[in-house]
Parts: sequence; structure tokens; C-alpha cells
Amino acid sequence: MYQVYPRSFADASGDGIGDLAGIVDRLDHLAWLGVDAVWLSPVFRSPMRDYGYDVADYRDIDPVFGSLADVDRLVAEAHGRGLRVLLDFVPNHTSSDHAWFVDARSSRDSAHREWYIWRDPAPGGGPPNDLESQFGGPAWTFDEPTGQYWYHSFLPEQPELDWRNPAVREAMLGHVRFWFERGIDGFRIDVLWMIAKDDAPWRDGPITEAPEALPGLGLEARGALQHGDGPDMEARLAELRDAADAYPERVLIGEVYMEPRRLVRYYGRDGRGAHLPFNFALVTLPWEAGAIRTAVAAYEDALPVGAWPNWVLGNHDQPRVASRVGAAQARVAAMLLLTLRGTPTLYYGDELGLPDVPVPSERSVDVAGRDPERSPMPWTRDGINAGFSVAEPWLPMIDDAGAWSVEAQRDDPRSMLSLHRRLLALRRSEPALEAGDWADVDAPDGVVAFERVAGGRRFLIALNLRPEPVSMPVAGDWTVELSTHLDRDGEPVADVVALRADEGLVLRAG
Ligand code: NOJ
Repeated sequence: MYQVYPRSFADASGDGIGDLAGIVDRLDHLAWLGVDAVWLSPVFRSPMRDYGYDVADYRDIDPVFGSLADVDRLVAEAHGRGLRVLLDFVPNHTSSDHAWFVDARSSRDSAHREWYIWRDPAPGGGPPNDLESQFGGPAWTFDEPTGQYWYHSFLPEQPELDWRNPAVREAMLGHVRFWFERGIDGFRIDVLWMIAKDDAPWRDGPITEAPEALPGLGLEARGALQHGDGPDMEARLAELRDAADAYPERVLIGEVYMEPRRLVRYYGRDGRGAHLPFNFALVTLPWEAGAIRTAVAAYEDALPVGAWPNWVLGNHDQPRVASRVGAAQARVAAMLLLTLRGTPTLYYGDELGLPDVPVPSERSVDVAGRDPERSPMPWTRDGINAGFSVAEPWLPMIDDAGAWSVEAQRDDPRSMLSLHRRLLALRRSEPALEAGDWADVDAPDGVVAFERVAGGRRFLIALNLRPEPVSMPVAGDWTVELSTHLDRDGEPVADVVALRADEGLVLRAG
């Protein structure tokens, strides 16, 4: 899976903001790279206060990205290249500009009032309780004319839908079907855990006690326990899954920030849930061999029978992996992502090793400071703005963008891009890597090692997470299939393997 942040991928219209036609122009890159599917962050009509995660019309495309016809063309062009297209479904909240909320606000008796979460002020005045929004400040905003507060885990302009209301469910599932009818292959579902709330929004008074310590996970994960993950989840998951299963070969990916034992709930009861509840362990954990080995084993162990795993290194909400772990380790991270058992999701630009791009305060646009990981994709060595746009890009390009570009890295057999392409090709050609069994392997401190096995083919993956060399005993004879340094192809290895500083190896048995 490859995540495109559409504003930053490729600008065909020349306004400095990426668009659907730009993505179509770059599909050949994705096919060449070797991914199977593309997930687009939201492209629906939106006032863009949270850059599309505030949807004003679920069935139309924002003019900044193009039109419905452009989506149809994107789907047709992608399918023609064997690529699937997933959209981003934002079910938990709408934009305050959405017609439902405009109506809901118009009076307490309006048809859509009960589609959102409204409460009276506390007895002495002020919000009904002390829940906080994840972007800071109260999760409640007062509507003067109707005298009640509305609930929002994010911006006030992202009022939260009440999924307990059957009319909401019917309308939202209708949107899902609309896109399936149009040929979309699936959805990434925004903050999936929040559509089945616990009782927090309906409780009075001070309720912000830390619910449960989840070490290593961020604010969003703690909020999970406070604002969602409630008793209706299985029912909501089953409805979504039924909508998907009514069409052939559709996939549901859920955004869920939780530790493995809670996360697996999102596969649904009897598998009637998300096909892939995002597993963010590699994003949220410290980059340290012990922590990663433990997390991989814990996740594998927690998976229900028949559930297919998945792994993520980055997305549009998190500092880029190259900035979190450094350029050298970003290669090791790529090898880990693409050799673990399960579907990997690659964030656009990570295949180039892009780091976060600092954004001066006068150009900062995101409400939560996430601009650095959303910088425009550099395509060409010499073009204006490295081929991203002929106009000034909406966010600054990386310095020396041409040198980071796809064009520059394509021709370099040792580049980060070449490493990604080789890893993806290897996965595709080796069933052991694509779908084979996984088993942890004992390794020296600082090394993550595991085997992948299928049908008599056996691979040992050994990843040195430290900047100094280390030797690792390996039983038997092996051949280097791939090094993160891309310079040891075919080297025979017997009994012990020497890992250089920051080196990862894929070894083939025999
Ligand atoms: C998660 C999305 O990934 C993030 O970008 C957004 O701000 C929130 N959900 C609210 O929709």
C-alpha cells in the first residue's frame, strides 16, 4: 500500500497544490516502484481547515483536486496498470460547513439536530464536562443561538456525528456504497475507534483522569480509551464490512492507535471488521532492537486466527521515518517494513528517504504542526520546483530537491529508491516474503532478526539497528540476497554473518 498525500504529490493544474490529474501523471512511478495499491488522503469537498479531514460533501471532489471525472480517470488509469485505489473515509466528524451541520445548528428541532452530539451547559454554565480536543482546548463549543454545546475531538469546525443514530449510519454507509459503485477498491477509515464511543461525552463534570497508561503511544492512543473504543464497536465494524463484502475484492483499512491486544478487536467478531486495522507499533515505539523485537512478537501473538497483519512506518500525522531514526537507519527501517509478515504501507516520499522539511512560521499552515512531513514530492533533477509544480508550492520543497528527486535516484543503483524497488520486487517474487511464516531469531544486542519461510524457501533477515558493526552467528549456509547498502549481492555466508554499521541483510538459505 502506498499513501499519497494529494496536496503534495504532483500538481498538474499549476496552482502550487497537488491534484488528481497530477497523481494520474505519476502512476507510472508507482507501477515501476512495485506497489499494489494507492491510498489517497481525503480529496472530498472541504473548507480545508484540517486539509480534507473536514468533509463538506462526501460525494464530490474539492475543486482544488479536480472533479468526479478525474477520480474516474484515476481509477481507470490505475486499474490499467494493475494498481488499486483507496479513498479516505472520514466517518467520525463532518465539516461544520456540511449541509447536515448547517441544518443541525439552525434549530433544536431541525431534522439533523440529533445527527451530532449536543449537550446543555453544565449547571453553573460552561461545557458539560472537561473533555479536551486533540488539537488543544475544550472538546465542546457553544452554539449561542440554540444554547447548547457541540462535541468535537478535533477542531470546532469538525463536529462529531452521533453514530448511535441509525439515520447517521444509513447515510454514511450510503456514501461508502456510492464510492464502491464507482469502482473504488477500498477505504482507509479515519479514527475508526471513535465511531463507537464510550460514555465519556455524555458524562458530567471532571472526567479527564488518565484512563490507562499505554507507554510509547501518543495522545491519540490515550484519547482512544477516553473518546471511543466503546461497546458498539463490533456492530459498527460488521456494518462497514457488510458494505464492503457486497462488492468483490474491496478492502477496509482502519486507523486505530492502540496496543496490539486492543487493536485486534478491529478485525471484528468472526472477521467481520476491518481487513487491516493499521498497526502503528513501528511508528510509536523507540527505534531500539529490543523494543521492536518484543513489539513484533506481541503483535504476531495477539493476531486472531485468520487475521492478516500489517505494518506502517509513517504517515501525514507523524514525523518522517528518516527524521525519527536518521538517514542510515531509514534504510534498515525500509527493509524491516518490507520483510515483516503482513501488508506494508509506505508513505509517499519515504521511498526517497525524505526527511521532515522545516517550515518557517510564516509559511506554517497546519493546525497541529504537521507541515514538515507533508512537503512536496521532488520528481525531476532540473525542473522548476523539481517537477512538483510550475507555481510556488503550498509548502516549501526540500532544499536541493533535484538531488532528492525520483529522477536522480532512479539512475543510482545504490539509492534509497533503488533499495525500495528491489525490496518490493523481491517480496513479489518470493512467496516466503510475501506470505510465508514468520519466526523470531536469536540475535546479538542491537540486532533484529527473523526468518520467513514458505514452500521450502527460507530467508533470514538480520537488521543492525546500531551505528557500529556486529557479528551474528547463523547456522548453515546462506547467500546475501540484498543488503541495505546494495553492494553484497550473491555473497556466500557460512556460520557467522558480519553486519556493517547500520546494515540490514536479507539472506537466502543455501
Ligand atoms: C486522523 C488523520 O490522519 C489526521 O490527519 C486528522 O487530523 C484527524 N484524524 C482528524 O480527522
